[in-house]
Amino acid sequence: MTIGVFDSGAGGLSVVAAIRALLPEQEIVYFADTAFVPYGSRSDGEILERTRLCCARLLEHDIRALVIACNTATANAIDAVRAWAPVPVIGVEPGLKPGAAATRSGVVGVLATAATLASRRYAELLRRTRDEAPEVRFVAHAAEGWVELVESGRIDTPVAHETVRASVTPLLQAGADTLVLGCTHYPFLRCAIEAVAPGVAIIETGPAIARELARRLRTAARDSDTAAGAPAARLRLESSGDTNRLAALAARLLPETETK
Ligand code: DGL
Repeated sequence: MTIGVFDSGAGGLSVVAAIRALLPEQEIVYFADTAFVPYGSRSDGEILERTRLCCARLLEHDIRALVIACNTATANAIDAVRAWAPVPVIGVEPGLKPGAAATRSGVVGVLATAATLASRRYAELLRRTRDEAPEVRFVAHAAEGWVELVESGRIDTPVAHETVRASVTPLLQAGADTLVLGCTHYPFLRCAIEAVAPGVAIIETGPAIARELARRLRTAARDSDTAAGAPAARLRLESSGDTNRLAALAARLLPETETK
């Protein structure tokens, strides 16, 4: 059986890459809300509504788990989706705890969308992490224009380096030696981030989501006594907009993955 992965656009493909690295046999159907990307500047109500609609589309595929591979959608809608989805729902949050564990300077920079940083869920995550690591300071920045760079495929270009520099410089000036990528699009800008901030630890959450998914699938397989894994492990792409364009972008972002 397949699993569903959802994002506002192509960013969740960074989570798909981590899932495929851990569970290469797992069939995946990916839905991108390309007609409404970016979510980061939308209202809470719009994000909730779009996330519900897109997750409903994925549930039409008889999926056995649903990954909301979008920090912004998780922050605004995961509780609502969990309340009605008949399968395990796994979300993604900025990796503040791994960031706190990685920093030596005691300052962690957090890059995410404006909607994620403004959410109650993020405020609670920050409070919990501060309780556990009171010596660490978190400096957050809404990374303006990063999602658009990835959506347009301009990931290792002069404009990408300039845009990344504008967001990362204030964090470095604040003393950050660790950058948390709190949006699933941002790992695709890793080259630009490393060029602008050499030697800085970069925290992304895709591998942790993949491990959590594997754990949930093992539990579900035990409960229903069905075998995990499927012989055909291709990635199926769907979108609310131009799916051919999404496929072309996916071929650039995940060059080793066969899609259908
Ligand atoms: N990929 C998204 C995230 O993880 C959403 C980006 C956007 O649509 O603004 O937050």
